[in-house]
Amino acid sequence: MGQKNCYILGIESSCDDTAAAVINNGKILSNVVATQHIHEEYGGVVPELASRAHQQNIVPVVHQALRKANIDKNQLQAIAFTRGPGLMGSLLVGTSFSKSLALGLGIPLIDVNHMQAHILAHFIEAEGQTAPNFPFLALTISGGHTQIVKVTDYFEMEVIGQTIDDAVGEAFDKSAKILGLPYPGGPLIDKYAKEGNPKRFKFPKPKVGPLDFSFSGLKTSVLYFVEKEVDQNPDFIEENMADICASLQFTIVDYLMDKLKNAVKKTGIKEIAMGGGVSANSGIRTALKDAEKKYGWKTHIPKFEFCTDNAAMIAIVGELKYKNQMFAEQNVAANARMKF
Ligand code: KG4
Ligand code: ZN
Repeated sequence: MGQKNCYILGIESSCDDTAAAVINNGKILSNVVATQHIHEEYGGVVPELASRAHQQNIVPVVHQALRKANIDKNQLQAIAFTRGPGLMGSLLVGTSFSKSLALGLGIPLIDVNHMQAHILAHFIEAEGQTAPNFPFLALTISGGHTQIVKVTDYFEMEVIGQTIDDAVGEAFDKSAKILGLPYPGGPLIDKYAKEGNPKRFKFPKPKVGPLDFSFSGLKTSVLYFVEKEVDQNPDFIEENMADICASLQFTIVDYLMDKLKNAVKKTGIKEIAMGGGVSANSGIRTALKDAEKKYGWKTHIPKFEFCTDNAAMIAIVGELKYKNQMFAEQNVAANARMKF
């Protein structure tokens, strides 16, 4: 199958990042992401604006990915693209583009589930990154997802726990908005938390099933807490930003770890792989590393560029599927609510 020079192009457009990457035998040759800053002024992703930006970005992003990989499009063996889940308008841009390109080049098309890709990103060969052994548990945490998945093989995955409302990234971003911080607020909460006292304020941990998550109540409790304090002292937020962020982050990280402990107990699997934009959070990274010594877990945290939405993760899935001849037909349609 020409393994030595198997070049696959991955395309990601499920939310607000237009991305393209080229993979060659497990190694990423290029990984280009155009992040859409237009959403910052709205405090969240505006779907229609996201689709329009994808439309503008997709051709230059793909060109750049090919150029950085130092290959011509005629050298590609297949096109892998995100079919879902995600925003329909955004998915349509990547899907239509990929179908046309594959048809034009006369090469196979490979559809990829975005959530599977977050997990399989661990199999990219890169320095400082270790591939997990099957079976393992994947904790996928981002602005759009919060899941615990039992992974028994590359394409044998079972969601054993997930959020019943907001994603954990939304809990960070919406709380940050209440504190007057710009979008996306997650990284800023992380930054302020480093200087603060995590035990100063108490926020409730929402009660749902042992492996499920709920974050909408947390956001409301932050709102009520802040409103009450600001009533008495208008400068309360400014004066206590670090302690509020540290306490909030402590609660969220502790909650994620509680759920992981429950999942380990239930499945007996002690190998954990984390992915998604929130895995950049210093609190969860430290907690997961500490769990190696504390509970005897083996943990994997991918490089940051493979954690947030990217096309390298789509390309690695493309390669795994290519090896197994798992191709899509030209009539494949984007699927906003795609399941595993
Ligand atoms: O995976 P991602 O880039 O896109 C989605 O699929 O959502 O994740 C973005 C999310 C945002 O909610 C952002 O606030 C959060 O990841 N995030 C963080 C940190 N870095 C990114 N949350 C907490 N701490 C961080 N350091
Ligand atoms: Zn994602």
